[in-house]
Amino acid sequence: MKNLLKESSAYYDKNNYYEIFSIREDAEGKVRNYLENISKDKIVLDAGCGTGKFLSVLETKSKEYIGIDLSDKQLERAINKSKKGTSKFICSNLSSINLKDNSVDLIISSWVLGTITDLEERNKCLNELKRVLKEDGIIILIENDTDSEFEEIRNRNKDNRTKDYNKWILLNSFIIDKQIDTYFEFKTLEEAKMCFEVIYGEEIANKIKNKRIKHKITIFKYNK
Ligand SMILES: C[S@@+](CC[C@H](N)C(=O)[O-])C[C@H]1O[C@@H](n2cnc3c(N)ncnc32)[C@H](O)[C@@H]1O
Repeated sequence: MKNLLKESSAYYDKNNYYEIFSIREDAEGKVRNYLENISKDKIVLDAGCGTGKFLSVLETKSKEYIGIDLSDKQLERAINKSKKGTSKFICSNLSSINLKDNSVDLIISSWVLGTITDLEERNKCLNELKRVLKEDGIIILIENDTDSEFEEIRNRNKDNRTKDYNKWILLNSFIIDKQIDTYFEFKTLEEAKMCFEVIYGEEIANKIKNKRIKHKITIFKYNK
């Protein structure tokens, strides 16, 4: 299968901009606070961990941390941040996870499955997450809400991509656990524009007028 993700330079050779974008997202740390409360003493799989945005909180609170990502470049940054010798990092596609059935208490996947536009492939990944989840385990998907300045900038209020993706999540037996109002806080307007240009292209970057961008996040939860 053609690897569409390899064409996404934000996760590969230009991933230093993805890293800045990721740090500036949720400037108030509301998602971190949420994760702190649910990951205590759990075996946690960070599915599509990227550069390890939530690594510090998940490593500190969990019993065991496993980060998986398809991009070796993203994973390299996460590994460099890791402070716990027992943490595991696996460079792999979520459609085929090298973990045993029923082996993980909590799966966190933030802004990952929605980037997989091939529905068959996305379903395969979700089925793999369900396979490795323990019987009393929980999957948490951290995603964009449909209605925010961030969505407006990305033109997602004009197409139905976020709406359709969030519908797909609910159709797969998830419920909405929490909705969070937060914002990106970039250091400068130029920094914001550069990150958006690398990730979403010049036309979208040109729409940014402020270094603070309002963002709404929905947290979806699945119990096996
Ligand atoms: C938008 S980023 C989110 C990264 C991280 N979870 C965060 O919140 O910053 C999406 C990540 O998912 C990874 N990814 C996308 N499809 C994947 C797949 N099929 N298997 C494993 N990782 C994948 C990408 O390499 C990228 O690091």
